[in-house]
Amino acid sequence: MANIDTIITGIRLANPLMLASGILDENGYTMKKILEAGASAVVTKSIGRVERTGYRPPIIAEIPGGLLNAVGLANPGIDNFDHEVEIALQAGKPIIGSIFGGTPDDFLYVGKKMEQYGASALELNLSCPHVLGVGSEVGSDPELVEEIIGELKKKIKIPLWAKLSPNVTDILKIAEAAQKADAFVLINTVRGMAIDIYARRPVLSNAYGGLSGRAIKNVGIRYVYQIRKETGKPIIGVGGIETHEDAIEYIMAGATALEIGTGVYSRGKGIFSEINKGLSSFMESEGFSSINDMVGVAVQ
Ligand SMILES: Cc1cc2nc3c(=O)[nH]c(=O)nc-3n(C[C@H](O)[C@H](O)[C@H](O)COP(=O)(O)O)c2cc1C
Repeated sequence: MANIDTIITGIRLANPLMLASGILDENGYTMKKILEAGASAVVTKSIGRVERTGYRPPIIAEIPGGLLNAVGLANPGIDNFDHEVEIALQAGKPIIGSIFGGTPDDFLYVGKKMEQYGASALELNLSCPHVLGVGSEVGSDPELVEEIIGELKKKIKIPLWAKLSPNVTDILKIAEAAQKADAFVLINTVRGMAIDIYARRPVLSNAYGGLSGRAIKNVGIRYVYQIRKETGKPIIGVGGIETHEDAIEYIMAGATALEIGTGVYSRGKGIFSEINKGLSSFMESEGFSSINDMVGVAVQ
């Protein structure tokens, strides 16, 4: 068996596959189950300062090649999340706390608590609506991104992963603003929508949603490749991973670790052990002795 462990920002993972934020990760028991099924770590649902109920249904729709969702950052609020992390930690694997906010102060409040609860790293979901502007996102404002990460870097000891949105004109500008982060997570969902032609209206209650799954894999690969090439920073790749070939593409494009979201929805929690098995046999037959040997080999 090839060795499929990997180290990202000092965190040792038994294999490269983590659960992505937003899928079965608002609850301690489901996170624990996913870890027991073979994921090397879980990223929690994005948690904010206070509880939010999110948008009214429909909030999720199946489309060819993936899902469209507009959940509206529904979450229990950080003060109600300690018990869930405690349960998930019983699996003895790293828990990554995904957090969101509208201001540096929000991120700091939630991040400090996640750190106290035992998270191994913070994943900063920068795709939250910007409180100061209308219709823009925190992650498309380079100054705000720099301020948030600068503040957290001073006061938080665990590694910071900046999850970037593909819905910007120039992702490099945002990556530069986020350069104090220890790693980048690429990508969040791609903005999209669907119309119900019989009801003659948008399928989702929010009209616009985030596209995920196979439909966005090649968008993700491109961003991982570009950011690896331009910044050389550690990258966690996410978007449309359903097979070991998808995982290998992301690794060769520059990802040191990976996350799976929609793949769990479409293939079940067995997806982690299936991909790990395929990864290991590919490495053996192609002569790779570690994940690290494959990271970024396609980058020219
Ligand atoms: C139903 C759903 C909810 C999501 N919620 C979050 C979230 O709370 N925070 C976040 O950073 N990403 C969230 N995402 C995005 C995923 O973490 C991931 O970046 C994206 O879906 C691409 O990966 P995938 O194709 O493997 O699903 C969500 C995705 C889905 C499908």
